[in-house]
Amino acid sequence: MNRLPEHVRRNRAHWDQLAANYVSAGEHRWAIDVPNWGIWSVPESEVRMFPDNLAGKDVIELGCGTAYVSSWLAHRGARVVGIDNSEQQLTTARRLQREHGLDFPLIHGNAEAVPYPDASFDFAISEYGVCLWADPYRWVPEAARLLRPGGRLHFLVNAFLLTLCVPAEDDCAAGDRLLRPAFGIYRVEWPTDDSVEFHLSHGNWIALLRRSGFEIEDLVEIRPGADAKTTYPFVTLEWARQWPSEEVWKARKR
Ligand SMILES: C[S@@+](CC[C@H](N)C(=O)[O-])C[C@H]1O[C@@H](n2cnc3c(N)ncnc32)[C@H](O)[C@@H]1O
Repeated sequence: MNRLPEHVRRNRAHWDQLAANYVSAGEHRWAIDVPNWGIWSVPESEVRMFPDNLAGKDVIELGCGTAYVSSWLAHRGARVVGIDNSEQQLTTARRLQREHGLDFPLIHGNAEAVPYPDASFDFAISEYGVCLWADPYRWVPEAARLLRPGGRLHFLVNAFLLTLCVPAEDDCAAGDRLLRPAFGIYRVEWPTDDSVEFHLSHGNWIALLRRSGFEIEDLVEIRPGADAKTTYPFVTLEWARQWPSEEVWKARKR
């Protein structure tokens, strides 16, 4: 534990404390078979988070939380591994595995340093997991190490523009003003809790992904449907219909 980076220790405590709030969302998403994504529950048919033909593929979810994404992958025939930094989140994931009769490895650890050999996986995915809460200069090269040539990395996270517009105070939604500089954005600590997030500009994501051995295949700016709803207070539907509130990066290992 003491050898973990400081942000990983802080985020472990944060997520162990928050885990109880994520149980019912985990239960709900474990129970559906047609995936939907992010805070607006946008359907898989629009986002295409999953590559075709997952059957028999080795896949890893980086920051799996309650592991509903892993369960969707397992149902599609993938050999899935989930890793998460919070034992409390994994306790929910393990219970849901038992209730749904699925069994795949769930590892308690820091996805910046995954205990698997090089080139173990064909696909790596993260939805608001490692891609938000871990240091991109550690986890992106680690994902590249884990993937085989031609393997894919897909992740969904807050859009860069939203991060610039969201107020630091709790329960306040993004407005139409830029509240912080874009240049230099990296480690973000909100005053309302003790967690540590990481956000990069698009230019820095592109540079990091390419330097780590990826080609970028797509950047999907998510547009919620007209009647979409979210339980999260930091963005309104009106805002998210005008500007990207979430984005999906898709990259392929060279
Ligand atoms: C919001 S949950 C993501 C799971 C799910 N997709 C969701 O949206 O609810 C964020 C998860 O990332 C995990 N996490 C944060 N930092 C991590 C790290 N360095 N390594 C592995 N998991 C991490 C947290 O423990 C937490 O369970």
